[in-house]
Amino acid sequence: MVSAVEQSVLFQYWQIFLPLFLLFAAFLYLKDKKEIEAFTNASKKVREHNKLDGADLVAVTEEDIDQEDEFSPSLETKDHVPFSGASVTLPGGAKEFYKMANDRRSVRKYSTKPVPIEVIEDCVRSAGTGPSGAHTEPWTFCVISSAEIKQEIRDIIEQEELLNYTQRMHKQWTTDLSPLKTNHVKEYLTDAPYLILIFKQTYGLREDRKRKQHYYNEISTSIATGILLSAIQSAGLSSLITTPLNCGPALRSLLNRPANEKLLVLLPVGYPSDDCKVPDLSRKDLSEIMVKY
Ligand SMILES: Cc1cc2nc3c(=O)[nH]c(=O)nc-3n(C[C@H](O)[C@H](O)[C@H](O)COP(=O)(O)O)c2cc1C
Repeated sequence: MVSAVEQSVLFQYWQIFLPLFLLFAAFLYLKDKKEIEAFTNASKKVREHNKLDGADLVAVTEEDIDQEDEFSPSLETKDHVPFSGASVTLPGGAKEFYKMANDRRSVRKYSTKPVPIEVIEDCVRSAGTGPSGAHTEPWTFCVISSAEIKQEIRDIIEQEELLNYTQRMHKQWTTDLSPLKTNHVKEYLTDAPYLILIFKQTYGLREDRKRKQHYYNEISTSIATGILLSAIQSAGLSSLITTPLNCGPALRSLLNRPANEKLLVLLPVGYPSDDCKVPDLSRKDLSEIMVKY
């Protein structure tokens, strides 16, 4: 009597099925091996890259390295254009600019006197002229004049700053800050006519929705912020760089900013209040900050 096993197709044609099965198993094994190798190589490259001095400032992830067989420039490739140097200069040049820069002070008490939005727009335009890694322009300037949003921002920041000052900041830190007389109460967040929240874009998106690298995005955005400070000063306005600890995610979500944007700094902008006072600070002399070779 022929058994059910002997009758089965598999049994009858095992000479065909066995090599096919072995081939398929080998294919799966090689595919897995290739994927593991690619992953290991990408991790190795990221590790090697991260060992380079300054590499921590250039955000390169395994995902970026995975895409490396599809290189194409993010900028359009065009002929270079002639340039003969600066054509707009300040009367008085660098000396006058220094006088203006040296006149800037961080202001923590503001008048509610309004400022035309056009002035702020020009200041942000100036900030947007900043140089950036591979011309990625990795910044977003959120300008807030709405009283309700300013109040919401103040609520978020004061709540976190209370914890920062009382629980999170090291004793040395709060001690170093004491001459500046700062605390968790931030009236300037609602008094100043504008708040500017500056976000660094840690990456961008190309038209095909692929990730665009934003090299040195923090340095680039910080330079743009410096230009913004000078522009604000040139308009006769005051500002204050603030870095509210642990408030970035809540402020990003309040303003509906996308996931690639991280809060770098927040500035109130306006005129100082009539009773404004600033810490009595002096600045380092040129001989202390410049070394000639
Ligand atoms: C990166 C950075 C972070 C700062 N963070 C704060 C801050 O969170 N709160 C604040 O009141 N001032 C902050 N400041 C302002 C400094 O305290 C101020 O620049 C410094 O005391 C010098 O004063 P001046 O700006 O009047 O020259 C910050 C400044 C910088 C550059």
